[in-house]
Amino acid sequence: MFAERTNWRLTPNPLTVVIEEFRERGLPFLDLTESNPTRCGFAYDAPGILGALANPLAMAYEPDPRGPLGARQSVAEYYAGRGVRVDPRQIFLTTSTSEAYAYVFRLLANPGDNVLAPAPSYPLFDFLSRLNDVKLVSYPLIYDDDWQIDFQALEPLVTPETRAVLVVHPNNPTGSFVRPREMDFLVRICEHHSLALIADEVFADYPLSPAAAGERIVTHTATSRILTFTLSGLSKISALPQMKLAWLVVNGPPAQLSDALDRLEMIADTYLSLSAPVAHALPKLLEGRGSIQSQISKRTRENLHWLDQQLSPGSLVRRLKTSGGWYAILRLPATRSDEDWSLEFLRQDAVLVHPGHFFDFPTDGHVVLSLLPSPASFQNGIKKLLTRVEHVCHPNK
Ligand SMILES: Cc1ncc(COP(=O)(O)O)c(C=O)c1O
Repeated sequence: MFAERTNWRLTPNPLTVVIEEFRERGLPFLDLTESNPTRCGFAYDAPGILGALANPLAMAYEPDPRGPLGARQSVAEYYAGRGVRVDPRQIFLTTSTSEAYAYVFRLLANPGDNVLAPAPSYPLFDFLSRLNDVKLVSYPLIYDDDWQIDFQALEPLVTPETRAVLVVHPNNPTGSFVRPREMDFLVRICEHHSLALIADEVFADYPLSPAAAGERIVTHTATSRILTFTLSGLSKISALPQMKLAWLVVNGPPAQLSDALDRLEMIADTYLSLSAPVAHALPKLLEGRGSIQSQISKRTRENLHWLDQQLSPGSLVRRLKTSGGWYAILRLPATRSDEDWSLEFLRQDAVLVHPGHFFDFPTDGHVVLSLLPSPASFQNGIKKLLTRVEHVCHPNK
């Protein structure tokens, strides 16, 4: 009856089972995976945001496959603020980055073709590629005091079926930005093998330190030598995931760019999925990002700083270096699987963290936590987690 692409293993994983038990029994737990910014106590300009949605322009239906010009101009201004000139014709508005991924995968790949994507990374890529009949081939990010793309491993993965290389800038959950020399490498590989580059920049506005901001390339929208698709949107930039507005910027060599734009226009015209109120609100929703971004940056930096103060050089737990985004990765003694650690923290201490394998870490001993929770919840949860690790590893102390 059903397509193979929907043959998912739908049995809940052991961590979800325990979370459900907590919920059924009405037991509270400290959720250190909370990455929904609307639930983390930030002060939003509710009247301004809701007012923006009442734009009278939204009363007319004026379909445009790319989305209304005024809205796209505000996206172009966002990139102009980063020193890059983007023509609004190069911009397509979508309801989510997931939809933007679908457009790009549909544009580039025949069934069975593949896209190279980083590991560890965003778990949804598996689902997005599968739903679009694209195979995801992982290339490793390696950690040696900091994260970097494993150049040696990446190029041999390219086959005649490879259509694109995907980067996440900064990556979720490793927090690593693409550096200029990595970009040079990617451009060379893409040029050599006629591949497109897909760059997910949803977290690009959240470097975790001024130094981190300096070591990265600014944005992939400035790339002109290879066909490049840059994805971003309101869910992180204005911390408004519920507004369902994202975008896709296309740039590259003129002939390829022009073909890509024509074909994308057909794809987008087939769906016309964006709703007028949110599209016309976009200029204001983008304009208001400064306040929420500074609240989030303050929160993530302070939580990270506090976390580091708890980890003495001799601690059993280490934090892996991160440069941007909303997450931190802890390395725990690999005396048990990362899933077993997560289950132990939840069952014994009512603290939820994600096991590294959710993000495709190649080895055990990693858990991922969000830096968004309130300092009180974050500190309480981390203290319990660190005490538990000590207790498990040194039971007689
Ligand atoms: C790397 C990455 N891309 C995209 C998204 C989601 O974006 P959207 O809400 O626009 O689909 C997320 C959400 O966490 C993410 O981590």
